[in-house]
Amino acid sequence: GAAELGPYRHYMQKEIFEQPRAIADTLENVTNIMPELFGDKAYGIFKEIDSVLILACGTSYYAGLTAKYWIESIAKIPVNVEIASEYRYRDSVPNPKSLVVTISQSGETADTLAALKHARNQGMLHTLTVCNVATSAMVRECELAYITHAGVEVGVASTKAFTTQLAALFLLALSLAQIKGRLNDEQEAGHIKAMRHLPVAISAVLALEPQIIAWAEQFAAKENALFLGRGLHYPIAMEGALKLKEISYIHAEAYPAGELKHGPLALVTKEMPVVTVAPNDTLIEKLKSNMQEVRARGGELYVFADADSHITASEGIHVIRLPEHYGLLSPILHTIPLQLLAYHTALARGTDVDKPRNLAKSVTVE
Ligand code: G6P
Repeated sequence: GAAELGPYRHYMQKEIFEQPRAIADTLENVTNIMPELFGDKAYGIFKEIDSVLILACGTSYYAGLTAKYWIESIAKIPVNVEIASEYRYRDSVPNPKSLVVTISQSGETADTLAALKHARNQGMLHTLTVCNVATSAMVRECELAYITHAGVEVGVASTKAFTTQLAALFLLALSLAQIKGRLNDEQEAGHIKAMRHLPVAISAVLALEPQIIAWAEQFAAKENALFLGRGLHYPIAMEGALKLKEISYIHAEAYPAGELKHGPLALVTKEMPVVTVAPNDTLIEKLKSNMQEVRARGGELYVFADADSHITASEGIHVIRLPEHYGLLSPILHTIPLQLLAYHTALARGTDVDKPRNLAKSVTVE
């Protein structure tokens, strides 16, 4: 009820603002990297596996796509990420040495549970879940688990569950890297420090809300939006597009910016806002030239840069700058303004933010 909402208008807004606490709780027991964070048997299993197969639906699937970048770059273990409802019905090539990882807020999503069973029936016995509900079927069914401590998530559109999943998956990448001898003490200490600082860094991003509200007022009048990202931030662009369509009913899709020329540029007019996730990473120069391609066709750019991005606002280029540059963990920070943009756009359009039409919080039937 209203009492639980405190100063917030919706559960979604409350849950967005709970993220510093949710991440702190999820990482509470992490003082150093060790496989045992995932269960007693994790050491032996992590030693044995030679690949990872991630299965999930919806927002949890985008967490999986982000994890692929992390695990492959830090632990050098090949990762496949599949939509659970596809994997369960597809002829695939099972690898018994693969670690099957399900990601689920509820732990009750029918397709994800069925995909897990399908993997197991094919002889893949090493299973791990990243899940927000300790008593769920998913946790019971998996050999290993990392419980995220987002707390109860009421809003149908997932927010704090997603960023806590990312935190847990980053830990998984580090733990696998350690087992495979690819993480030295200095690197470990650096990553722990960055993780511990996340709640403060997220709070600083949340303080950008007034600037994002100003953008949302412009978005509310649009019917389409494009989200661009590259590398680690392409899944974050996808998550941003999903949030916008789920709750504001604006058609939105995400593209890896290098694909612009292969289709979406044909859609760009001044009526199409183009949201760009643009932290200063190795792809920033390429992203800047992708942005010029949009500008040259009259597209309006809404850029989420960071402290080191060196992108300045000009005609048709709006910039909100995140206060810190955050390296490998930057996807967690860049998720926050996209959640706020979707939330405030939906608010301006007067939709039912916490219970968007036709959608359910937990999809327990196929
Ligand atoms: C529904 C929810 C999404 C969620 C997805 C997967 O579509 O509305 O927010 O990402 O299910 O749910 P899970 O509980 O498995 O993460």
